[in-house]
Amino acid sequence: MTKVAVWCRHEGDNIIGIGPNIPWHVKSDFKRFRRITSGQNLVAGQTTYESFPNRTLPDRDIYVLTFDAGYEVSDPERHFVVTDINEFKDFEGDLYISGGASVYKLFMTGSSKLMPDIVVDCMYRGEIDPGLEGARIDITPCIEVLRKSYRQISADYELDNILTTVWVRKGEFVEQSVLKRIIEAIEKEED
Ligand SMILES: NC(=O)c1ccc[n+]([C@@H]2O[C@H](COP(=O)([O-])OP(=O)(O)OC[C@H]3O[C@@H](n4cnc5c(N)ncnc54)[C@H](OP(=O)(O)O)[C@@H]3O)[C@@H](O)[C@H]2O)c1
Repeated sequence: MTKVAVWCRHEGDNIIGIGPNIPWHVKSDFKRFRRITSGQNLVAGQTTYESFPNRTLPDRDIYVLTFDAGYEVSDPERHFVVTDINEFKDFEGDLYISGGASVYKLFMTGSSKLMPDIVVDCMYRGEIDPGLEGARIDITPCIEVLRKSYRQISADYELDNILTTVWVRKGEFVEQSVLKRIIEAIEKEED
């Protein structure tokens, strides 16, 4: 099993959301996320899941993290409720950690067994939408762990004001076929 975290944060303050929204609109960022996670197993917090169009993303299984065991997903055949993060310790298959902040923090700063093997760190260098209301949500603790416990293994990919880099956990074996798939998805740039 390979665990991969994929996020896009704002340069400097590490903000990934304001209220329920992502505070920038970069089409290629969304497309890259879709390419990387296409056909894969995703884990998303309930808030992030609710923000997906019609609470779904096609061609993916989605594991929704919520404390509410009775939470009703939009597609019971492909979406599953998980109430205990520890269930992911023995997950079979690869797992793509797709946010939001509370989920990234649980995986990056929690038990070593949950820590992602690979992080796709996208950093948006433009302005944040000033019109959005709500709490500013950042992943600074995750970035601190990234800098300390991971090493960058990819080139710097720059597209539409977003710098994308791939990191792996220091001293850990990483499944090369997964890495290759991710790098190809980043380098493809357009669908
Ligand atoms: N820029 C990016 O890359 C990116 C990616 C994804 C999301 N986002 C943004 O991130 C923000 C959402 O982040 P968030 O932290 O507020 O919400 P979130 O992580 O998406 O979801 C939070 C919910 O997850 C559930 N949860 C959290 N910890 C849990 C645990 N230990 N066990 C079981 N369930 C647990 C709870 O659901 P219940 O309340 O149902 O119990 C909690 O309310 C939004 O602004 C979104 O747009 C940005």
